[in-house]
Amino acid sequence: MGQATRKVVVLPGDGIGQEIVPQAVRVMAIMAKRHGITITTEEHLVGGTAYDKSGTPLPTGTLEACKTADAVLLGAVGGPKWEKLDYSVRPERGLLGLRKELELFANLRPARLFPQLVGASSLKPEVVEGIDVMVVRELTGDIYFGTPRGVTGAGDQRRGVNTMVYTAPEIERIARKAFEVARVRGKKLCSVDKANVLETTELWRNVVTEVHRDYPDVQLSHMYVDNAAMQLVRWPKQFDVMVTGNIFGDILSDEASMLTGSIGMLPSASLGERYAMYEPIHGSAPDIAGKDLANPIATILSVGMMFRYTFGIAQAEAEVEAAVSTVLDQGARTADIAAKGEPTIGCKAMGDRIVAALSR
Ligand code: IPM
Ligand code: MG
Repeated sequence: MGQATRKVVVLPGDGIGQEIVPQAVRVMAIMAKRHGITITTEEHLVGGTAYDKSGTPLPTGTLEACKTADAVLLGAVGGPKWEKLDYSVRPERGLLGLRKELELFANLRPARLFPQLVGASSLKPEVVEGIDVMVVRELTGDIYFGTPRGVTGAGDQRRGVNTMVYTAPEIERIARKAFEVARVRGKKLCSVDKANVLETTELWRNVVTEVHRDYPDVQLSHMYVDNAAMQLVRWPKQFDVMVTGNIFGDILSDEASMLTGSIGMLPSASLGERYAMYEPIHGSAPDIAGKDLANPIATILSVGMMFRYTFGIAQAEAEVEAAVSTVLDQGARTADIAAKGEPTIGCKAMGDRIVAALSR
């Protein structure tokens, strides 16, 4: 590798984001050195912490910085402190605003089980052993962003509305992404919709089927979302890549994460044509925030994804995964992945262990 300098904007956000992100930044520094790239980092506010400081969950300075970065590393946003705020300034709006403004339409959420954690899954070992599912979630459309939206009227007359909407080009670009992801994996793509009830998702099914013509080497199937939710816990090994809309993807990726033992293990990459953001799939976990209890592995694995997808160094991702595997072999467990009675370590100590494994 050359001496290229890259800029990463670091957004710890709220709750445990403040604890897990520093551990991931340590790993990022080690990997940069090892692979001969110089990374400069710049930290900015987002979410509730940004709201407290500046009255908005997505300050202009944060967004502008992200637009000049090669990649963004995000922790988590949200917490009970901000739940009473108007939707327009909730912490979650900061995250959704980033996704929308940076046009991060493709969210890759890989659910892979580290064999050491077979016992941490709530499912039987034979069901989860060896699972390796990639959920490709559309991230800038659907009921998350559709209008009209909101609650009108008062008392008995109150009426709430959200709008599920997709255009054909929006479906086409996420479908292409998913076929491309499937092409370099197991060549099997399952598209998830609710085409028996929702017209928007019937359009989804039709467009995905049309795009399939360009990817004859990938085997395509379709599944209704209720069945997909059931199949994920019944026999998850039937899946290679799943592609679905924003809201179904939100739900199914949380479900998929539990196959791997803990939601604290799942990284993600949010990709667009120009920008990229890397974030764990879990939230800010206010109940354990500030107690050094959080699992930093999802964020650390997200750094691995950054090296692969933004810096084009797939080897680095494999090295990060190997380091995680090493510390799991050594018995290092944060509370969320510990079996009953197993000793646990904190967030910082887990970071120390992974850093040590990488530094050997
Ligand atoms: C996720 C989260 C977010 C989402 C929240 C925090 C807005 O659940 O990244 O899955 O719903 O997309
Ligand atoms: Mg979610």
